[in-house]
Amino acid sequence: MSLVLGLETSCDETSVALLREDGGIAASVVSSQIDMHRRYGGVVPEIAARAHLTNLPPLLDEAFERAGATLADVGLVVATAGPGLVGALLVGLAEGRGIALGLGVPFVPGHHIEGHALSPFLDLDGAPARPLPPSFAALVVSGGHTHVFSFTPEAIAVLARTRDDAAGEAYDKVAKMAGLGYPGGPVVDRLARSGRVVEPFAVARFKGGSPDLSFSGLKTGVRDRLAALGFSPNTGVALRGPVLEEENAHQALRDLLAAFQESVVAQLEDRLERLLAAKPFPLLTVSGGVAANSLLRERLAAWGARHGVEVLLAPRALTSDNAAMVAFAGLLRHRAGVSHEGLSAPARSRWPLEGLPWVAPAAAGRDRLE
Ligand code: KG4
Ligand code: ZN
Repeated sequence: MSLVLGLETSCDETSVALLREDGGIAASVVSSQIDMHRRYGGVVPEIAARAHLTNLPPLLDEAFERAGATLADVGLVVATAGPGLVGALLVGLAEGRGIALGLGVPFVPGHHIEGHALSPFLDLDGAPARPLPPSFAALVVSGGHTHVFSFTPEAIAVLARTRDDAAGEAYDKVAKMAGLGYPGGPVVDRLARSGRVVEPFAVARFKGGSPDLSFSGLKTGVRDRLAALGFSPNTGVALRGPVLEEENAHQALRDLLAAFQESVVAQLEDRLERLLAAKPFPLLTVSGGVAANSLLRERLAAWGARHGVEVLLAPRALTSDNAAMVAFAGLLRHRAGVSHEGLSAPARSRWPLEGLPWVAPAAAGRDRLE
């Protein structure tokens, strides 16, 4: 048996995964640090790095135990090398390199965003990964990214990107302004679902028909309406946690959040429509933390059905950061022989996915590690 060991420590989740050679998940464990960062209203890099150091050893033990495997079964090691917080990345990277060197097996530095983009091909119940088509589009919506990429046999390119805030960032800021604490996505999602869009927000568009995205105007719009509802958004929630309990949220706030959420999803639909009209794609993956959003999942599934595009949503448990997605991305690169710098790879806070060499796995056509 040969397994791929994946390590993810780029931000505030520590995660370890073991993948089989067919991409099936043998074990996937995640330890979230959200409670440690909540009182500060966001991720504190130094706290994140220290917590990864503490969390990684027990998570490794747990992953091997769940998979019924030992280190001797590992044939490839992948650790996230970027993009992310450098201090946090270094913890997983050093651990992964050390294990690979000790075992004498190859090491591949994993690309966090590539991992998100490919996560919808994975199955949570351990089934083999779905085969990748030679070309597809990937919408990555997270706390740091809102990008649409195209994967073609030759290259990875950016089709559209946010020019200001990422969608997840907009959710987090809106929640903070409303006193709902951190992270904002899940609570805004739930409150919005019990609201009605009474006064819709316009969908942001760029002159000249660019498919790029923008969420900062929407955020300002929410701030103004919050002020009209009597919230004083600048007080923030740092060191205090939520100042407004979810169940006490007024109906007017729920309605406002429903309008915000509708506008985010409508903008994504609008841009996908433009991109599809410009150059058709048969399949779209949807991934990243915001891909857990209930309205986004419903609407993009329906959008795909309407437009004859197969929409693959990341399994909910794999929308937030996890090592399984990074292990899978590394496995494909290793197999295709396009695996970056190996052991010498540095930790990178910025690491654009576009322009990285890519060999469509279908073209590479091998299904074994060796
Ligand atoms: O991918 P991720 O775990 O970390 C990054 O790499 O950024 O994404 C985290 C983001 C946060 O901004 C969080 O508020 C958002 O995903 N998020 C959501 C939902 N669940 C998490 N946003 C909207 N609706 C949700 N249900
Ligand atoms: Zn992420």
